[in-house]
Amino acid sequence: MVVIAAGLVEILPPETESYSIIKIGHIDDYPLNEFSFIPAKKIYVYRARHLIRVVSAVCTHLGCTVNKTDQGFQCPCHGSHFDKIGNFCSGPASRPLDRFQVQVSEKGLMTVNLKQTVDRDFNID
Ligand code: FES
Repeated sequence: MVVIAAGLVEILPPETESYSIIKIGHIDDYPLNEFSFIPAKKIYVYRARHLIRVVSAVCTHLGCTVNKTDQGFQCPCHGSHFDKIGNFCSGPASRPLDRFQVQVSEKGLMTVNLKQTVDRDFNID
């Protein structure tokens, strides 16, 4: 797992409608087939050859930050488990981790909308 330094995350000014849209750097900042953790935004970013997945690190039970494990994600507070794409496996949480909309510009710069959850990953050609 890679922890992305806070300096790569740019936050738009607060109290604007776009506050939930964050820049998370260039696609090449993220190693292939690995989860990268951005602690300041509590998200995990997974980059594969043809997709980007952004999974919330906020447990859907009471909001603790989940840890990445070999099997997926585990909450240290009350033990909820989620699989590798954030699907719910065991409680006390009762729903999956959120997955957020991500966009990649032609230059490879990525933005994530923390208020827009999605069911699918972002596919890259
Ligand atoms: S906050 Fe995660 S299991 Fe309770």
